[in-house]
Amino acid sequence: MSNYHIKHLEEYFKVYRKSVREPEVFWEEIAEEHFTWYKRWDTILSWDFSKPEVKWYEGAQLNITENCIDRHLLTKGNKTAILFEPNNPKEEAQHITYNQLHEQVNKFANVLKSQGIKKGDRVCIYLPMIPELAVSVLACARIGAIHSVVFAGFSATALSTRINDSDCKMVITSDGSYRGNKTIDLKGIVDEGLKDCPSVNTVLVAKRIHSEINMKEGRDLWLQPLLDEASSECTPEIMDAEDPLFILYTSGSTGKPKGMVHTTAGYMVYTAYTFKNVFNYREDDIYWCTADIGWITGHSYIVYGPLANGATTVMFEGVPSYPDFGRFWEIVEKHKINQFYTAPTAIRALAKEKLEFVDRYDLSSLKVLGSVGEPINEEAWHWYNDNVGKRKSPIVDTWWQTETGGVMITPLPYVTPTIPTYASLPFPGIQPTLMDENGEEIKENQIDGRLCIKFPWPSMARTIWGNHQRYKETYFSAYPNKYFTGDGALRNTVGYYRITGRVDDVIIVSGHNLGTAPIEDAINEHPAVAESAIVGFPHDIKGNALYGYVILKEVGETRKHESLRKEINQIITEHIGPIAKLDKIQFTNGLPKTRSGKIMRRILRKISCKDISNLGDTSTLLNPEVVQEIIDNSI
Ligand code: WT7
Repeated sequence: MSNYHIKHLEEYFKVYRKSVREPEVFWEEIAEEHFTWYKRWDTILSWDFSKPEVKWYEGAQLNITENCIDRHLLTKGNKTAILFEPNNPKEEAQHITYNQLHEQVNKFANVLKSQGIKKGDRVCIYLPMIPELAVSVLACARIGAIHSVVFAGFSATALSTRINDSDCKMVITSDGSYRGNKTIDLKGIVDEGLKDCPSVNTVLVAKRIHSEINMKEGRDLWLQPLLDEASSECTPEIMDAEDPLFILYTSGSTGKPKGMVHTTAGYMVYTAYTFKNVFNYREDDIYWCTADIGWITGHSYIVYGPLANGATTVMFEGVPSYPDFGRFWEIVEKHKINQFYTAPTAIRALAKEKLEFVDRYDLSSLKVLGSVGEPINEEAWHWYNDNVGKRKSPIVDTWWQTETGGVMITPLPYVTPTIPTYASLPFPGIQPTLMDENGEEIKENQIDGRLCIKFPWPSMARTIWGNHQRYKETYFSAYPNKYFTGDGALRNTVGYYRITGRVDDVIIVSGHNLGTAPIEDAINEHPAVAESAIVGFPHDIKGNALYGYVILKEVGETRKHESLRKEINQIITEHIGPIAKLDKIQFTNGLPKTRSGKIMRRILRKISCKDISNLGDTSTLLNPEVVQEIIDNSI
């Protein structure tokens, strides 16, 4: 198992140096020793960031489900692969063994085939966190269909935009979903979204809440009867290393969401290898990531990474506050969780509640705690370390992105000494660098720069679906020959990285990546609105919350402002989803603009943070007088 499980700091540095000096040798050894290939690769890596084009393991043939399921059957057939914990704690947890997962995935794959889905077709999955979600993802991968999972909190409009962007042939959904003490009419949202989706022929519907729903003749089919009929044998499709595995949408600072395309071999190798090391995974550990499979965290570290290691991965349907704020810890005790991976926003929300909710449970099974999605602030880090980890479980603050496919900068537990707010050191194979305003690499320490990566890694997204030009412009144009992350960072004297946050118009709210443009577009749809601008401001629990500045078409409507605020948030909910709602809405007569007409968000950001002592240079503004008005009326 050369290099595969890094056990101490010296070894990390040795492995890291090798991964930089001889990246091909490094990634070849890992691929060779730990996976099942139908055919070996001809070339480990070919790349050109100017095109940009990146290929890993070209010539190799494989199926990722063979690696995530079949190859474990001989030794781990009766081991739990997926441990499903339902929303309602009174409902029994389900233990799905590797044997059962194999059967369920094969049956589902045969259902997809019987409905005309073939290799390369796109299938949209819009499901809550129930086993069918993981099974349908794997079923697509089994037959080479490209899955596009859309988080089931997104609205009908957001769903249809994503379906149309990649011409999905099929949608897989459920009658509804449970969320705490609420139910959500998922099928109703799908019906609404599909009004304008000509590519969709079939909708498969899983039963979860047993609600009365409409089934459209000739389009909608109940899933269970089809599964009952299907054969449990399905030979995996032989995939090329660079065949697309999935599309996952992420927000950009402008324009519609970007369908990031991940391919098969590199993604598999990288998520499996990072899973093992980032979580210090050992055989028989019970691992739980609280994310939703609708995000990349769930793809890489609930489904593919853990299953490729033959692990037991927990899937939780509910929310941290139901039936009370002790739910996470109740689950940790009940299933004796060893690795627990969550988001800072969840930690902050739980830290606000009484300590009793944590102290009531036995958390002694925990060995590793993880954090992802946004910078974890010092206070939250200490609360997590003291009360959950009891100062004995290292916290891995993992920095990565939808685009990177896997964890990029992170401590390794029991290997890397941790410092709160530092994501610390690059994972083997990752070559970060910081760039200054003039496009020069920053060699000094403690200087904030723009975080770039200067060498390819196996799980990087290869393109944006249907728009390679946009891929190039967004990630490879700011600095020639480098992947630009969109984040700012600094490096301390020992080489640890601290991520300081987005440097573009993406705002991370409760760990969700939100672009300003789509939200502004939604607001501008309101008939009374002339123009709008969104910025983020610090929020105790969400990390950032949204502040909207809105110009109305007609002035003097003050009386109606409260109802307008409600209507604006309603429109945002319809277009994007409730996660993008604004916390504050200020009506204004103007927005600070440059002479070229660009809104100076920097100024709005400062005002929304109540940091008006130094607004910087406003002399280039077309309308400097508007700044004082905005300050005077700020909320
Ligand atoms: C953005 C990517 C990767 C899965 C979840 C988010 C921010 C993520 C950290 C961290 C500081 C972080 C960055 C990044 N981010 N993890 N540990 N420390 N910032 O995926 O939705 O693609 O968002 O999340 O700003 O660019 P995503």
